[in-house]
Order: sequence, then C-alpha cells, then structure tokens
Amino acid sequence: MRQMTMVGFLQAQNCTTLASAWRHPDARTDFTTAAYFQHIGQVLEAGKFQMGFFDDRLAMPDLYGGNPAEVVANGVRVVKMDPFACLMAMGFGTKHLGIGSTASTTYYEPFDVARRLQTTDLMLGGRAAWNVVTSVNDGEALNMGRDVHMEHDARYDRADEFMEIVLNCWDSWEDDALVVDKKSGLFAHPDKVHRQEYKGKYLKTSGTFTVPRSQQGHPVVIQAGSSPRGKIFSARWAETVFVAYHDIEDGKRQYKEFKDAIAGHGRNPDNVTVNTIAYPVVAETRSEAEDKMALIESLYKEVDGLSLLSEALNYDFKKKGMDEAFSPEELEGMSGMHAMRNRVMQQIGRNPTVRDFLNVTRRGRTHNAVVGSAKDIADQLEQWFTERACDGFVIAGTHTPGTFEDFVKFVVPELQRRGVYQKEYKGTTLRENLGLGMPERGWWK
Ligand SMILES: Cc1cc2nc3c(=O)[nH]c(=O)nc-3n(C[C@H](O)[C@H](O)[C@H](O)COP(=O)(O)O)c2cc1C
Repeated sequence: MRQMTMVGFLQAQNCTTLASAWRHPDARTDFTTAAYFQHIGQVLEAGKFQMGFFDDRLAMPDLYGGNPAEVVANGVRVVKMDPFACLMAMGFGTKHLGIGSTASTTYYEPFDVARRLQTTDLMLGGRAAWNVVTSVNDGEALNMGRDVHMEHDARYDRADEFMEIVLNCWDSWEDDALVVDKKSGLFAHPDKVHRQEYKGKYLKTSGTFTVPRSQQGHPVVIQAGSSPRGKIFSARWAETVFVAYHDIEDGKRQYKEFKDAIAGHGRNPDNVTVNTIAYPVVAETRSEAEDKMALIESLYKEVDGLSLLSEALNYDFKKKGMDEAFSPEELEGMSGMHAMRNRVMQQIGRNPTVRDFLNVTRRGRTHNAVVGSAKDIADQLEQWFTERACDGFVIAGTHTPGTFEDFVKFVVPELQRRGVYQKEYKGTTLRENLGLGMPERGWWK
C-alpha cells in the first residue's frame, strides 16, 4: 500500500518559518545549542519521519527599510546559523532520520557543495539530502560580495550547470573504486576514479573529485521551485520535491502537471515524491486546538509580514504606503520569488497594494493551518494523499519543538492506524526510506 512521506521543516535560526514562533510561551530558547537540535531530531525519529531538512537564506530580512534595527529588535528570522553544522549535530543524535540542508547554487561553488554534502552523507551513513535553491534577494548578494541578485531565470540556467558539475563530482568515484588493500598496496582503482572537464556559460571546473561514493551513492536531491522555470528545473533534477499547494483542487491539478513534466524528462514520476507544506495545530479536542491557534495568531506583528515580503520579493515594502498600488514597473522589478508575486496579481486582478500582498500571501502568519483533533488533521492529510494532491507533507512548526511533539503524539498514531503511514523505518539510508534505489552513475544524463 502507498505510504505518505513525512518531512520536518527545520530552521537553523531563532524561529520557525513563522517569525513569531520565538515569542510563543512554549518555544525553547536554547536554539543555538546542539541539545536543541538533537531533541527535535529525536522527536521526528520517534514519529518515523523519513526526513528533516534545514532551510537557509544567506541574509537576515533587513532589506525592509534598509536597516536591520527593526527586524533585530523583533527577532524576525535574524539568527541564521550554518545549517550543515546543525545537521551534523542532529545527525549524531539520531540513527534513522534522513537530514537535508539547503545550499545555494547562486552563491556557492559546485565543488565545495558536492564535497560538503558527500562528506556529510558518509558521516551519517547515507542519510543526507540537499535542498537546491537559487536564493532570492539582494541581501544575500551583498553578504556574498556581489552587487545585486542575479535575474530569476538566469539563476536557474546557472543552477543547471551547477547540478551537472555536482552530479559529475558524485559520479567520479565508481561504487567499488575504493580498495584500501595494504598487502597489494592498491588504494583505489585508478580506472574507476574519473576526472571532470566542464565548461559552461556560467561555470567551469577541471579536476578530480575527492570524496568516494556513500552508503546511498550520493545525497538525495530536493528542490522546491514553483515558477514555470523553477518547475522545469525541478522536474529535471529533483528526487523529492517541496511545494506549497494552496487547496486540494489546486494541489491535484499542479501535482498531475508536475508528474507529467517529470515523465517528459524520461524519468519515472513514481520515484519523485511531492510533499506539500502543512501547519498542523493539534490538541486532544478541536476546541483546545482552536484556543492554541488563537494564541499563535496573537503573536504576529506587522513587521514580520512586511520584512518577510521584502525578503521574498527582493523589494523594500517600506517604500510604499499600505494602500498605495504598485506600478507595473515596480511589480516587474520584484526579482525574488516570481510565483508569489504572480499569485497576488492574479488573485487581486488589478495592481495590488502592500495590504493586498499581506492579505494574499499571509507572509509571517500561518497559511492554511490545519487546526483540530488528531482525527481532524489525519482526515485532511489522508484526503490530500489518497486523492493525489501530494505524496507527503512538509510539517512546518508554529513553534518548536511543540509542533513536532504534538504531531508525533496525536497525529502520527492515527495515520499509522489508518495504514497510510509507516510504523517502522524500511532501511538504514534515506534512499531506502524514500523507496529510491541506489542512483546509477550518470542517471541524470
Ligand atoms: C518547503 C519549501 C522550502 C523552501 N526552502 C527554501 C530555502 O531554504 N531557501 C530558499 O532560498 N528558498 C526556499 N524555498 C523557495 C524555493 O526554493 C523557490 O525559490 C520558491 O518556491 C519560488 O520558486 P521559484 O524559485 O521557481 O521562483 C522553499 C520553498 C518551499 C515550498
């Protein structure tokens, strides 16, 4: 029987994707410690999550008003630690959980990313994954020594080249290249370690990769592009996909289109799981869950929404009055997440205002939170899953570790009882737990 995948949405920062999460009375404040990440990992593992993954952005959202003071004072996603270090801490506190980290194709070098991930994968016994992002804004560009963030579609063209180099790196060592035979003196088969010569429009490399294959071949590739160009990239490269479908009908339509696009690349759509974001707020009874939700909503501040909109769309929302409409040129100049901008324009049907952006995107607030008892939440997840609006869920926290603890305590047993979610891990590597085989060298060609 088909089973859901479950992914924990993790942050190496002071809050969840909800900036207000740190204000929650039950939120832990030791988010700079290994103990904090190990606890979360252990909770996810007790709930048999296939994976947790760390999101990342290479800047705090201080484009808003051109000054960090307001976001720092309000804790709007301002602490952002290195996700790989947090991943390792979590990995050493768990045994089965797959763990992913985000790394940007716009600001890093492919050799570095390939090496860091492949090493991580070896250290965790084949449990690592990479969330491939092209990054979103000028804050990231400036921190990384560039003047402006690259244009949207060109980022994905560069990312295609980046992937070819990374995959070439991961293919460099054949599965049985390493010998380490002291008697014969043969360390590794020289005919099974391959050199790479690559020259693209944006990137080039020339050399031999330095890390052997891992227990699962190489890390699992995750992607979450949602613009037309982003989806083409995703359909070509992703082994598991993160999406934010807005309702079940929209989900079913987009899910089918996306699976068809994967097949269009000559790949098997069943091998690529599509996981949509869910914000569960669960308690013993529905009315208790509604009380919890009311508390969560009360923690939101307008600066959360405005600074996170500025970050996502790479546009300073402080430049405009709340009810002032954006001009076509201003809308065109938003070079961050196009899919978000386009959705606002479509839903509003005229030039949107700042307030329209806040209302449609609900940036800084939960979007389509699922609030209720274990049965309520399981009903909804099961319906999305069985009607093929997704293959699984990215569980996002309203606060941590509370959201994950509640989900594992209340919802997981109910899903397991219904037979739609695993009771035990299927294997030891992330690929085994996602039902993916060992990747053949060159599968992507
Ligand atoms: C669950 C999920 C997680 C994401 N994590 C990140 C992240 O860590 N860093 C990032 O820059 N973008 C992240 N994104 C954004 C996507 O990579 C992508 O940029 C976005 O969906 C807009 O699509 P586009 O790039 O095709 O315009 C995430 C998206 C989703 C749905």
